Amino acid sequence: MPSTAIIGAGAIAHCHAEALTRLGVRIAGVLDADPDTARRFAARYAVPVITDLAAAVRGLDMVHICTPPAYRIAYAQVAMQAGCHVVMEKPMAITVADGETLVEMARASGVRLMIDFNHRFRAGFQALLDVVRSGAIGEVVSIHVQRMGMLGGNAGTRNDTWRRNPRSACGMSIESLSHDIDMIMQLAGPIASVQAETRATLADAPTFDTDVNAVFALAGGAMAGINASWSSWLKSSARSVVGTKGSAILEGGDLFDFARLRLRTAQMPHEQVTRLDDIYNFATCPSYLAINRHFIACMQSGADSGASGEHALETLKVSHAILAAAAGRTMVRL
Ligand SMILES: NC(=O)c1ccc[n+]([C@@H]2O[C@H](COP(=O)([O-])OP(=O)(O)OC[C@H]3O[C@@H](n4cnc5c(N)ncnc54)[C@H](O)[C@@H]3O)[C@@H](O)[C@H]2O)c1
Repeated sequence: MPSTAIIGAGAIAHCHAEALTRLGVRIAGVLDADPDTARRFAARYAVPVITDLAAAVRGLDMVHICTPPAYRIAYAQVAMQAGCHVVMEKPMAITVADGETLVEMARASGVRLMIDFNHRFRAGFQALLDVVRSGAIGEVVSIHVQRMGMLGGNAGTRNDTWRRNPRSACGMSIESLSHDIDMIMQLAGPIASVQAETRATLADAPTFDTDVNAVFALAGGAMAGINASWSSWLKSSARSVVGTKGSAILEGGDLFDFARLRLRTAQMPHEQVTRLDDIYNFATCPSYLAINRHFIACMQSGADSGASGEHALETLKVSHAILAAAAGRTMVRL
């Protein structure tokens, strides 16, 4: 039976704990900076609260780090030095320097660092990826990502989250667009250059870029754009791919919803609409089950997870390129 410990016991840690429990993984303990949060989490999953991290991780297969991204290096170091593989929430870090440190620490310790790009494992995105990889729409010409909603924080208000604290907040470009950057790279390969505009619109979260319009040139010749708002009173989501022989659109009514896939190729007289009902649900969390199953299989077989620290570092560099392009009103090459 594989084993892990969970560090950071907030909203996303519950998604992992539910998935790990269903996968038969032994959760050896939980640690959180807030003792009450740690106690509540420990009681819910019938696991001990960790008081001595180095002792607690000894002999475990892996450690799940689900803290806010600013607070991960010291925990990763203890886990990696004990020979544990590390599953870490996205974004891997706030700064590129910290991301590089994490990658180097994993390399030096001979363990795997795997980042939770769980949206990649959602039914909606898998359906879109299948269409693109099947060749049905030809070569990718352009990718359009649009998602809009209001920054709430998983606790229900943004007043009590780390996303509002200037020491731990990292803004939409780094925190949230990491998923979209990952998806663009899955669909059409590496990003070569970025132009962008960003805005920070929330008076109570002044260091948080809430609105981003970014345009990417991809190394393979395609182009992509992200239009994202975390200050919109209306919600919507669309991921569209225009190819040389057809187009596909994954769309839904809420920030992360993939309700249906629309497809039309040059041969089709009408569009085909496939109902997916892939509604993002923190309570059932199917994508966390899928990605944890994948990470455990990779850990056991030695296969590449495809969501390594090195890959996450590339996405982090793109996020920083968005911010640099917006700040300098210039194109940034990667
Ligand atoms: N993969 C996804 O779809 C997804 C969705 C939401 C959030 N996330 C990511 O998960 C991470 C956590 O987000 P969340 O929504 O669970 O936040 P949260 O605020 O609900 O939980 C964070 C937890 O970490 C604890 N914590 C803070 N500093 C700590 C420290 N130094 N040491 C130990 N514990 C500490 C807090 O007390 C809290 O319990 C973020 O990186 C976020 O971007 C990923």
